[in-house]
Amino acid sequence: MSSLIEAIDVRRSFDMDMRTLEVLRGVSLAIAEGDSLAITGMSGAGKSTLLHVLGGLDRPTSGRVLYRGRDFYAAGDRERSAIRAQKIGFVFQAYHLLPELTVQENVMLPGLSATGAFLRGARLRARAAELLARVGLSDRAAHRPNELSGGEQQRVALARALMNGPELLLADEPTGNLDSRTGEDVLRYLFGLAAEQNLTLVMVTHNEAVAARCRRHVVLRDGLPVA
Ligand SMILES: Nc1ncnc2c1ncn2[C@@H]1O[C@H](COP(=O)(O)OP(=O)(O)OP(=O)(O)O)[C@@H](O)[C@H]1O
Ligand SMILES: [Mg+2]
Repeated sequence: MSSLIEAIDVRRSFDMDMRTLEVLRGVSLAIAEGDSLAITGMSGAGKSTLLHVLGGLDRPTSGRVLYRGRDFYAAGDRERSAIRAQKIGFVFQAYHLLPELTVQENVMLPGLSATGAFLRGARLRARAAELLARVGLSDRAAHRPNELSGGEQQRVALARALMNGPELLLADEPTGNLDSRTGEDVLRYLFGLAAEQNLTLVMVTHNEAVAARCRRHVVLRDGLPVA
């Protein structure tokens, strides 16, 4: 299998007032198309940072990220944005739903973007409705995010991440706020997409049982992945 995405000696540090905080200290990993990878590690280990770097959202201090062999951060912002919009779904740890929009509109948003999948009108709504049904939220489509529970918002964020039919899903604790039954439904759906549509999954999780279901598992420790 060829790599869909590859990190090569990725370092990410943050300059603070008095010192430099080195979070990623030379992470190298390759993720094949259709593969599933769990990333675990203690709070503060750099899991979210790594996911952001992999998703083209946070430029590493040094090192490279290759997307289908293309240097993601050497590409221009427009090219990187286009790949993100068309190929990558991202579920943020803090959801980042837009409060002014309804649940349905939040899910539709990626499809509306200029660089997105160019779905229009009725098809866009139908796709959003289908995804909301998949995550068990058909009856919340007209709600605003602040009218939802944390787990419901998490599922909206997942539906939104899948809106453009990504080939890569980067999900930061996608079931962290769900009860075991709802979490199981969500995971079954995601692994089903991986099996049927070759969706590549990278999931940050604190849940060992979730990690065990991914084909691969790395633990981030001292800024490095431990297999
Ligand atoms: N923009 C930033 N500026 C300064 N420090 C940051 C920044 N982003 C992250 N950090 C620091 O980097 C470290 C790793 O953060 P990160 O969010 O990647 O951890 P995490 O493994 O996802 O933790 P958690 O399990 O709690 O979500 C933390 O110590 C955090 O304070
Ligand atoms: Mg995190």
